[in-house]
Amino acid sequence: MKTDTLEELNRKGFIEESIDPTLDLFEEIEKLKKEKNAIVLAHYYQEPDIQDIADYIGDSLGLSQEAAKTEADVIVFAGVHFMAETAKILSPEKKVLLPDLKAGCSLADSCPPHLFRKFKEKYPDHLVITYVNCTAELKALSDIVCTSTNAVQIVESLPKEQKIIFGPDKNLGAWVAKKTGRDLVLWNGACMVHEIFSREKITKLKERHPKAKFIAHPECEESVLKMADYIGSTTGLLKYTINNEAQEFIVATESGIIHQMEKANPGKTFIPAPPNNSCACNDCPYMKRNTLEKLYLCIKNGLPEVTVPANIIAEARKPIERMLEISANLGL
Ligand code: 13P
Ligand code: SF4
Repeated sequence: MKTDTLEELNRKGFIEESIDPTLDLFEEIEKLKKEKNAIVLAHYYQEPDIQDIADYIGDSLGLSQEAAKTEADVIVFAGVHFMAETAKILSPEKKVLLPDLKAGCSLADSCPPHLFRKFKEKYPDHLVITYVNCTAELKALSDIVCTSTNAVQIVESLPKEQKIIFGPDKNLGAWVAKKTGRDLVLWNGACMVHEIFSREKITKLKERHPKAKFIAHPECEESVLKMADYIGSTTGLLKYTINNEAQEFIVATESGIIHQMEKANPGKTFIPAPPNNSCACNDCPYMKRNTLEKLYLCIKNGLPEVTVPANIIAEARKPIERMLEISANLGL
């Protein structure tokens, strides 16, 4: 059985090793979790098998809260790189594993730290709020981090006269500005998955399903958000489908969340919102780089590991802890 060298691992981003086809990976992962005192944290956008093996499934806020309090020695992060980095920043003494190091994020990539630093210099009297979907280096340049669950409340917790830069997601930023009535200076970043929904196709779909509720993540463009019956984070969307009496929902976010919606709502129907290009789908190509096989090999080998330089941890920890404090005070 050949195992990759570290060099190969860094090039490919994941361990490639032949797996005995008779193995039950669910059982093997459970055994390894106990053996290594490891916990698997998974985002709602992961493939269903990974969600089903996870110890905790959640949105970005829930995952960071969980990473901050876990007593496990090893955190296996079934999500994307910025999420694993956030876990490492909050629990630097723990080993944080990511099944595929190339599970990045187009939104995080849309905000290179060296350019953001220059942008920030233009607004010296502004406080910097960054969406958690950014690199550790960007967090280190921020005053407060937020997620889509708490962005509105975090802005509202600041005095009205406080000037604010919000980055990197211009769509979330514009939605927060509208909800709070604040004039935010926005960085021009966006998520490739949430920007592709077609207003025209959604209109036609709504005509065919007149009783369906249309629900959207605030990373979607304003023209799409205007059509929504409800806008919220992944947890917000999931709760809405549970609490609302409608039997059909058109869902404008990454398709992974539909697994939990279906589990929580037997008999209800969930229709992914159509993208403008018929060749596209609502899968995040980064989230979906993780597979059950890669997760098994990662926990078995203790690799690939996510590391963050100590000076970045020291700076990035403060704005994340500020977010966790504000969220705890608000009961979020
Ligand atoms: P939430 O799960 O916090 O709503 O974020 C969605 C997302 O885009 C994660 O990449
Ligand atoms: Fe990044 Fe968008 Fe994928 Fe979320 S869905 S990880 S924001 S590219």
